[in-house]
Amino acid sequence: MEKDIRLQKYLAMANVASRRASEQLILDARVSVNGEIVTELGTKVSETDEIKVDGVTVHLAKKKYYIMLNKPVGYVTTAKDQFLRPTVFDLVKDIDDRLFSVGRLDYDTEGLLILTNDGDFTQKISHPSHQTEKTYHAVISGSLSREDINNLKSGVRIEKGVVTAPAKVKVLESEKNASLVEIIIHEGRNRQVRRMFEAVGHRVLELKRVAIANVVIGNLPLGKWRHLREAEINNLLKGKNQQ
Ligand code: URA
Repeated sequence: MEKDIRLQKYLAMANVASRRASEQLILDARVSVNGEIVTELGTKVSETDEIKVDGVTVHLAKKKYYIMLNKPVGYVTTAKDQFLRPTVFDLVKDIDDRLFSVGRLDYDTEGLLILTNDGDFTQKISHPSHQTEKTYHAVISGSLSREDINNLKSGVRIEKGVVTAPAKVKVLESEKNASLVEIIIHEGRNRQVRRMFEAVGHRVLELKRVAIANVVIGNLPLGKWRHLREAEINNLLKGKNQQ
């Protein structure tokens, strides 16, 4: 926050009232700064001052962060790892609040991971009803048959009683020993993509998440992060791919 801001601006930033209505609160002697009623409109305050309206402390809303990280292989998506392996949070410095990841990527998966301190946002886009589409590029062993593709598309059994929801599948490159496949799912079960390919008899050799909804990792270098743009945040809140 700016160091010294006018009291009425502080009240407006804290969503107490509009700037104009906040001025009126001050003039009406309803606002105190560090225990003293203030009626002077020009009064400057900072974050360390205790501001009260009608005796109730006013807090500034916390700044919200929405970050995309290009996770490399070799990092866990937890705050602390029992084996002391590096975590994705080690890669995001200079953020003055605790971040959480929206979903997870395995230790051996790379690509798009979203980090935020906005719990409501996390809940919304992780909730199954939101059906947020996640796009993966998988290098797999062998080549997929038409039947494999149809099975992956309609749903495969990855454990007892668990059949995956319909997925979108596109073979991008195919050779006898290995293929590059794009797969889009909206569920987020543990090691889901790997288990889906295993269910049709192929091993995942490399896995990368390239998009969530329409938000793409693009050419962000591995291990680097950037703030999401407003349009990207809104796209995630909408959920489904609009392609
Ligand atoms: N599916 C997987 O198998 N692993 C991931 O990290 C993400 C999706």
